[in-house]
Amino acid sequence: MRLLIPVAGRGTRLRPHTLLHPKPLLNVAGKPIIAHILDGIPLQYVDDITLIINPDGDRIREFVEEYSGKKTHVVVQDKPLGLGHAIYTASEFLKGEVLIVLGDTIIEGNIAKYVEGKGDFLGVKEVKDPRRFGVAMLDREGFIFDLEEKPEKPRSNFALVGLYYLKNAEKLQKSLQYIIENDIRTRDEYQLTDALRALLKDGWRPKPLFIDGWYDCGKIDALLETNRVLLLRNANNYDLPTALIIPPVYIGQNVQIEYSIIGPYVTIDDDAKVKESIIKNAIVNAGAYIENFILEGSLIGKNAVIKGNTRRVNIADYSEFIMKGGDSSK
Ligand code: G1P
Repeated sequence: MRLLIPVAGRGTRLRPHTLLHPKPLLNVAGKPIIAHILDGIPLQYVDDITLIINPDGDRIREFVEEYSGKKTHVVVQDKPLGLGHAIYTASEFLKGEVLIVLGDTIIEGNIAKYVEGKGDFLGVKEVKDPRRFGVAMLDREGFIFDLEEKPEKPRSNFALVGLYYLKNAEKLQKSLQYIIENDIRTRDEYQLTDALRALLKDGWRPKPLFIDGWYDCGKIDALLETNRVLLLRNANNYDLPTALIIPPVYIGQNVQIEYSIIGPYVTIDDDAKVKESIIKNAIVNAGAYIENFILEGSLIGKNAVIKGNTRRVNIADYSEFIMKGGDSSK
């Protein structure tokens, strides 16, 4: 089986972090987003991997090849014309058995069981409001019979999570070629959902794979929430002499923590140093330095430096010394 991962998005909602690092390499719960994605794939069935990258995305290939141990190809999508166009860019790899997994959301489900099964499948998850997703309609026998990309009036609550498996990907390649040659766009983009929808009209009958966990990494808040969930899952115990650790946290190699309170829900990556600080619900990347600071709900880049200050106060009984927060509107 071939594994195809489109990672050509620019990650604009995660700026400034994505100005220096492609989004799939951003750290969550101690490793890059793409590493969590690969952890969820039954790699024993994968022969090789193809990444669809934008012209700046070559670093992702190096990481994926090393992490997965699988031969990893790249194709470059030079223009952001939509997911359908991204997949079409990799036409030479759309042959035989193909699993497509989007490179920006982490999913958990029994993919191995479905790959071993006979038929094609699409990952779905029931959500309250599916309007910002592709939506799958199921027939009475439980097969998918129609799809619609980001409909204003969804006909079901089953969102496409970004997991697509076809035993014969050639037909998808042809369908994508058709929508591109005929300039068929939805919301101004060539949609993978539209190409798959055309296959359904021709009698294709994929099954839904109901996903257990689906974690968004598209915005800072979503990334921090995913950090929380993943840390809860794989909580480690740390015993540091000069720190109070409130689990769950992840602490990387060669991290120095002095007189600080860390946690809950904190990732601190390798070589970071934290001194006299309190950190909760945050991701601190490798080599960052934090001193004298109370940090919450924060994402700190590699080698960034944050230093607060201490104050000396000398006030008499019943005096008040109140510092207001940084919000200038108050
Ligand atoms: C893409 C797909 C959509 C799917 C979603 C899952 O949309 O087009 O069908 O539901 O991923 O994350 P995007 O999020 O790229 O707009």
